Amino acid sequence: MSHWIDFYDFKHSVIYVNARHRDVHYRTIAEDIRVHVPSPEARVLDYGCGEATSAELVAEASGALVLVEAAPNVRAALDARYETHPRIAVIPADRTDALPVASFDLIVMHSVAQYLSDAELTRLLALFRTLIKPGGVVVIGDIVPPALAAPAAAVALLRFAAANGFFWAAVGGLIRIFVSDYLRLKTTVGLSHYTETAMLAKLKAAGFVAHRAPHNIGHNQWRMTFVARAS
Ligand SMILES: C[S@@+](CC[C@H](N)C(=O)[O-])C[C@H]1O[C@@H](n2cnc3c(N)ncnc32)[C@H](O)[C@@H]1O
Repeated sequence: MSHWIDFYDFKHSVIYVNARHRDVHYRTIAEDIRVHVPSPEARVLDYGCGEATSAELVAEASGALVLVEAAPNVRAALDARYETHPRIAVIPADRTDALPVASFDLIVMHSVAQYLSDAELTRLLALFRTLIKPGGVVVIGDIVPPALAAPAAAVALLRFAAANGFFWAAVGGLIRIFVSDYLRLKTTVGLSHYTETAMLAKLKAAGFVAHRAPHNIGHNQWRMTFVARAS
C-alpha cells in the first residue's frame, strides 16, 4: 500500500484544508500524545508522524523523541524544522528496524494503520514489540472501524473546523477531497478497517495486553486508540 506514502509525500499534504487546519490538527495530536508520555526521561518513537508541526510539545515532556516518516518530502520538511532541536531526531521508516531492541518507553503510531495492509500492520506490531522496553507502552491511534467511516470523518472534521475557525475552508476541503486522488486510492488500493474486537485480537497475537482508550487521539472520536503493554 505504498501508494499512500506517495499521496502524503508533499511538504504540505492536501489532506489539510489550510495551514490553520494543519497546525490545529498537529497541536491537538501532540497534546494528546503527551498524556501518554510516562516520564520526563522517556524515550518516545512516533511512527508515521506526518508533518508533526507541534512535535516540540511532545519533546518538551520527554527525554528524546524519534520521528519516523516514510515520505521523503515530508521528512525533508521535518529535518529542516527540527535539525537544531536538542531532543528530536528524524529518521526514514526503513531505518526503524535497525533501532536498538528495548530502547523506547512509548511508541505511538497514529492514523497510519488504515494505510497499511493487514500483513504490514502485523510486521510493525512485531517490530514495536521488540523496540519497546519492558513496562513500556505502545499506543495505536485513529483505528478506523468498518461502519460509517466516511460520514463520521466528514462530521468530525466540520465540528473540529467550526470550533477552530475554519468551517468554510473545511467545506471547501471536503469538496476538494472528493475530486482528489484520495477517493481514487481508496477505491483502488483500499483502506484497512478494524473493529475493536479485531484490533484487540491482533495486539494480543503480537504479544501485547491491550485495551481501548476512552479517548481517541485527535478530533475524531468515532475512531479508536489502543494502549498496549508487552505481555
Ligand atoms: C494521515 S498521515 C498521519 C500523520 C500523523 N501521524 C497524524 O496523525 O497526523 C498518514 C501517514 O502514514 C504514512 N504512511 C502511509 N503508508 C505508509 C506505509 N506503508 N509505511 C509507513 N508509513 C506510511 C504517511 O507517510 C503519512 O505520514
